[in-house]
Amino acid sequence: LITRIVNGRIWKDGSILEKDIILEDEKIVGIVRKGQPTQVDRVLDAEGALILPGLIDAHTHLRDSRIAYKEDFVSGTSAAVAGGFTLVLDMPNTDPPITSPERLSERMSSAEKRILCDVGFYAMPLDLDHVEALAEKGCVGYKIFTHKSFEDKNFFEEEKIEELLKAVGKTGKTLSIHAEDPSKIGFLGEKYSAIEHARAHNVEAEVSMIERVLRLSRKHFTKIRFCHITTAKGLQMLVEEKKDSLNYFVEVTPAHLTLDESILSECDKICLVEPPIREKGNVIFLRKMFWEGTIDVVGTDHAPHTLEEKLSDKPLAGFPGLETTVPILFTLAKKGFIPFSKLIESLTTNPAKIFNLRGYGTIREGNIANLTLIKFVPEYRIDSSKFFSKAKFTPFEGYKVETAVTKTIIRGETVYERGAGIVGEKRGKVVRT
Ligand code: DOR
Ligand code: ZN
Ligand code: ZN
Repeated sequence: LITRIVNGRIWKDGSILEKDIILEDEKIVGIVRKGQPTQVDRVLDAEGALILPGLIDAHTHLRDSRIAYKEDFVSGTSAAVAGGFTLVLDMPNTDPPITSPERLSERMSSAEKRILCDVGFYAMPLDLDHVEALAEKGCVGYKIFTHKSFEDKNFFEEEKIEELLKAVGKTGKTLSIHAEDPSKIGFLGEKYSAIEHARAHNVEAEVSMIERVLRLSRKHFTKIRFCHITTAKGLQMLVEEKKDSLNYFVEVTPAHLTLDESILSECDKICLVEPPIREKGNVIFLRKMFWEGTIDVVGTDHAPHTLEEKLSDKPLAGFPGLETTVPILFTLAKKGFIPFSKLIESLTTNPAKIFNLRGYGTIREGNIANLTLIKFVPEYRIDSSKFFSKAKFTPFEGYKVETAVTKTIIRGETVYERGAGIVGEKRGKVVRT
């Protein structure tokens, strides 16, 4: 089946082409001049949209399994395609966590046929003997949380981190790190607000763990992606380190690029996240480094919980992000606060390179026909009641935005359309690298 996408503007390698895209079944087969005759079975009208390579979210918590009440594969990947994401990389802090090749395989087969977009899976290598087998099963990479224990194990001590760096280095895959030093995190009682939580999860906690990981990793050749960097001080260390090595990658989230601590008193528990929303100087520095090219990845850190869990005395950290990232960040780029082309790269080509996602990230002959169509539209407001995610709340409630996803295409077929919502069949596939 040959499809021609007309009336679009194509994002290709940093420029915008006024051309048409030809798809054959699930693949991109060509880019042609407007009006150039070709044999086609059907025409898809992009209606003036900017056609991006299908967006990739390298930081999604899809949940499912025993915590499916927060989010499941269907609701999470529906939120993904509604937000313009065509491939999401799923975090392993599920219940049970994805620590063994058996659990990874089980999660992969449970996702199969229930996902609307493509999904890759991280593993949490609590047991170093599993590192290689997890790679063989096709995990997209490894993820550790330095500030928490899972099944009574943690990655906080130097020897443990070093052994892990060695083991992961042998696989060639990327180690993703939530960097917070638990010995620096302040005590939180039985009841706390977002302000108290932010004070406990202080700047020093992030800085200390970044310093430790950098120091231990210099003699290894392991690719490391620092998740959701929030502090100017920590980012400055990474900026320096990146001058001497290509093994380090920096991720930031839409929330940390947008919000500062002045919102915490009002937004309170809804905005509570780990690492927390910081003082404004950090936000400005993150944006500045985005312009300078230090930010490699924007990850949504889509972390759904129930509203009850969020509003309880001990509020859970995180909030959904898949459906707000495009409107919030492209509006921010339109206003000139973050660089438009680097924003696109951080959601497409960069994650594709870092995680070795072949066939993804670029509009190019032979690649998978995953595409995201976006448009600048008249101002509208973020409304979480319309989310496909089960988590119907956001720190961005009521925010005015000027960009929308108009269509999301997975493997050559439209699966989301602005106005119509989710359309067609589930076309997602499990991605193994
Ligand atoms: O805010 C957060 N939420 N930080 C984390 O590290 C985990 C995440 C979650 O899974 O809810
Ligand atoms: Zn994290
Ligand atoms: Zn996360």
